[in-house]
Formats: sequence, structure tokens, C-alpha cells
Amino acid sequence: MKKVSKLLDEFLEKIIDEHVQYTNNHQGHHRDFAHVMLSLMEPQDAAKELSNIIGIDRTNIKAIILDMLVGAMDTSATAIEWGFSEILRHTRVMKRVQEELREVVGMDRLVEDLIRLEDLDMVMKESMRLHPVAPLLDPTT
Ligand code: HEM
Repeated sequence: MKKVSKLLDEFLEKIIDEHVQYTNNHQGHHRDFAHVMLSLMEPQDAAKELSNIIGIDRTNIKAIILDMLVGAMDTSATAIEWGFSEILRHTRVMKRVQEELREVVGMDRLVEDLIRLEDLDMVMKESMRLHPVAPLLDPTT
């Protein structure tokens, strides 16, 4: 257990180090969520007041990153897996989703138009209604 938590800690330290290095190389320009959290550790002007309230440090940042990873990975993977298994069982719906993807996104780029993919949206909502990945109002939160 200790070994695993050490490994995990090293992984999180590496993420933070890489973000610190990026910020240093790009004159304090903030790019993603980890950068924003780092900016609250060493606040500039406007963020100073917020940082005094939040009082964020490196350990907090590691805990938040871990929270995001743990909360995001299994939930998303399981929801996608259920979505696939439902459309495999309903080939008429699968064809509609495929057609929509072809029309809206095409075959030459990544899917970036989630808002325009109405059939896919309905499939995922229905799939999560039938197979909730996590209980709503999780008793641990
Ligand atoms: C299909 C995917 C997902 C499902 C089913 C899901 C489900 C949930 C549920 C049920 C809760 C507890 C809500 C509550 O009772 O207050 C929760 C909380 C949370 N989720 Fe997700 N989640 C998903 C994806 C994600 C992703 C992608 C992220 C991060 C990028 C994420 C980060 C979090 C965090 C940080 C919390 C805690 C929020 C808080 O403390 O207020 N989740 N999620």
C-alpha cells in the first residue's frame, strides 16, 4: 500500500513539475486546470484575494488532481461501455448514430461537436438512465 501511494505521489509530483516548467517557459501563461491551481499558489494581482480565501498548496493540488482522475476514469469508461453495449443491442439506433457522426463530424477529424450530436446525446442519456454508473447523491460526498 505504501509503495502504491508513493508511486501515485511521484506521478502527481511529475504532473505538477511539468506544469510548473510549462508556466516558466511560457511567461506565466496558464493553459489548463492544473495551471490555474498553480497560479493560486503564487497569485498575481486579481487572484491574490481569492488565494487568501482558498489557501491552496501543493498537497491540495495533488489531492484535487487525484479526485478528478478517480472521479473521471472509471465512471466515463463504464458509461461508454454501457453506451456501446446498448447500441450493439439496438442496431437501428446504431445506424442513426453512425449517420449523424458521418454528417456532423465526417471521417477526417476528431469528435469536437458534442453539442450538435443529438442522437448520440440521447443514446448516452438513455444508457445512463438504464445503467447508472454511480448512485446520484453519493452518500460519501
Ligand atoms: C459518466 C461519467 C460520470 C458519472 C456517471 C459521474 C458521476 C458522479 C456522481 C454521481 C457524483 C456525486 C455527486 C453528488 O452526489 O454530489 C460525482 C461527483 C464528482 N465527479 Fe463525476 N461523474 C462522471 C464523470 C466525471 C468526470 C469526467 C470528472 C472529472 C473530470 C468527474 C469529477 C467529479 C468530481 C470532482 C466530483 C465531486 C464533486 C463534489 O465534490 O462536489 N466526474 N460524479
